Amino acid sequence: MRIICVDNYEQMSKKAANIVASQIILKPNSVLGLATGSTPLGMYKQLIKTYEAGHIDFQEVTTFNLDEYYGLSRDNKQSYYYYMYENFFKHTNIDMRKVNIPNGMAKDINEECCEYEKKIRKSGGIDLQVLGIGRNGHIGFNEPDIKFEATTHMVKLDEQTIKDNSRFFKSIDEVPTSAISMGIKTIMQSRKIILLASGEEKADAVNGAVNGKITPELPASVLQLHPDVTFIVDKEAASKLDLEKIKKDYC
Ligand code: PGA
Repeated sequence: MRIICVDNYEQMSKKAANIVASQIILKPNSVLGLATGSTPLGMYKQLIKTYEAGHIDFQEVTTFNLDEYYGLSRDNKQSYYYYMYENFFKHTNIDMRKVNIPNGMAKDINEECCEYEKKIRKSGGIDLQVLGIGRNGHIGFNEPDIKFEATTHMVKLDEQTIKDNSRFFKSIDEVPTSAISMGIKTIMQSRKIILLASGEEKADAVNGAVNGKITPELPASVLQLHPDVTFIVDKEAASKLDLEKIKKDYC
C-alpha cells in the first residue's frame, strides 16, 4: 500500500487525475473502474482539462462504474449514470458504447449482475480502479459486514450511507435503499487501485483501512491485501494517521 498525503482537495484531485491520465497514455485502451460521489468530482474536472489540452484521448478507453442505485433510470438526475454523463463523459470523446454502469432498472437483477461480471472479464479486467470511501469504510456500496468473496450483487444500503447521501436528494425518503454494486472480489481483481479521501469525516475510515484489522466490518481494510493500491488523502482525511510512520513505511 502506498499513501500520498496532500494539503487539500484540489491537490488530491490533481494527483488522482495525473495517475488516471498516465494510465491512459501508457495504455490507450485501458479499462477504468470509476466511482461517483463528491470526492472524485475534482478529479473528473482535471481529467477534462487534460483532455481539452490534448494530452489524453478517451476513444479507446472502456469504463465500468462501481455501482448504481436500484430503481433509478438513466435519466433520473440522482442516478449515477446521469452523474457520470453530466460530470465527465459528455465533456470527453469517450465512446459511450464502451461505458458500463449497472442498470438500476434491470428486471432480473441476478442476470444483470452476472452479465456485468462477464463484461468485465471479457474486457480483459480492470486496469485501474478509482475508489472513494464511505464514513463507515464502505467501498463501492459494499457496506460493513459484506462478504469479501462477493462479486457484483444487489446490496441494502446502510443507514449511515442513506443519511450521508441524502444531501443529493430533496429528502431522505427519496434516497433509494438498495443498489447494485461491484463486490469486494470484483474490486480486488483490479490490477491497480487508487482510493481518494478528503475531509475529517473520512479520517477514522482511512485510519481503519490503513492500520486496522482486516475485517468485513470495515470493508476498505481488505485493500491491505491488494498488491498495488495507492491512497491519496488530504490533510484532514489523514489526520488520524501517524504521518511519520506513514513516511517510513508507505511512501
Ligand atoms: P463521497 O462518497 O465521495 O460522496 O463522500 C464516497 C463513498 O461513499 O464512497
